[in-house]
Amino acid sequence: MTPSRSRPVHSSQTVPHAGLARCVRRHARTPWRKPPQAVDGPALALLADALRKHDGPLILDSFCGTGMSTAALAERHTDALVIGVDQSAHRLDRAPAVPRNALLLRAHAEAVWRELVASGHHLSAHYLLYPNPWPKPKHLIRRIHGHPAFPLLPRLGGSLELRSNWPVYVEEFGMALHLLGHPSRIAIVAAEEPLSTRFEQKYRASGQALWRSVAHFGSPGQPGVGRGTGLNEARPNGAMKMAAGSATLIVSEEEQTS
Ligand SMILES: C[S@@+](CC[C@H](N)C(=O)[O-])C[C@H]1O[C@@H](n2cnc3c(N)ncnc32)[C@H](O)[C@@H]1O
Repeated sequence: MTPSRSRPVHSSQTVPHAGLARCVRRHARTPWRKPPQAVDGPALALLADALRKHDGPLILDSFCGTGMSTAALAERHTDALVIGVDQSAHRLDRAPAVPRNALLLRAHAEAVWRELVASGHHLSAHYLLYPNPWPKPKHLIRRIHGHPAFPLLPRLGGSLELRSNWPVYVEEFGMALHLLGHPSRIAIVAAEEPLSTRFEQKYRASGQALWRSVAHFGSPGQPGVGRGTGLNEARPNGAMKMAAGSATLIVSEEEQTS
């Protein structure tokens, strides 16, 4: 099937949001306390059951859409339980047949992060592939790094990869991790990337550059999991971009693929 076309993200925001540091700091200070939502209940029960039966690596594919990447990850990591999470039943209904070691859940991803942290589970890898960009400046709080649940991500351990076709989003995400005390690396997603998604195919077919931010939080038993100073000193906006440069390495596509 030929992928549909899409336009690049258009936004009046062309640099990281002026309120990013304040927002991330506030969420780092105050744990996310939103009561569990009934709609997530069945998925969380399925998750608990699957975790009870599995004794091996865990991979999470948050915002998995139609689950293409979940299926690919499960095929590649046969010893792992690969969990794909999306809030949209419509998208999940269009999922391909997934391998037995994959589980697709209809839930809010943030509820799954909270459950995994609360039950002491650690991930070997976590993917956030092409979340909605929410490009209007007033929608910062809807972006992953603007959400009160964002500080849960390092506590899940393992590696974390975010991809987006909007470089500002990826840069903000890297800066937000830096504010929590975790370095990350920003790079172009290589053209022959074996892990693809429906949205990635659409963006590529439209000739768009794709960006990734990658961080490593360590594995269980290592002091690195979820560590971080919590609140790195960030300078006022503008200078913040340079401050993040010490922790966020931007590499070229050539370096990335070599
Ligand atoms: C742009 S699509 C990308 C889907 C897929 N990763 C891909 O690349 O094809 C973003 C997805 O995030 C899902 N989503 C948005 N907010 C969510 C949330 N809080 N929890 C779970 N899924 C969410 C949407 O339903 C949608 O399927």
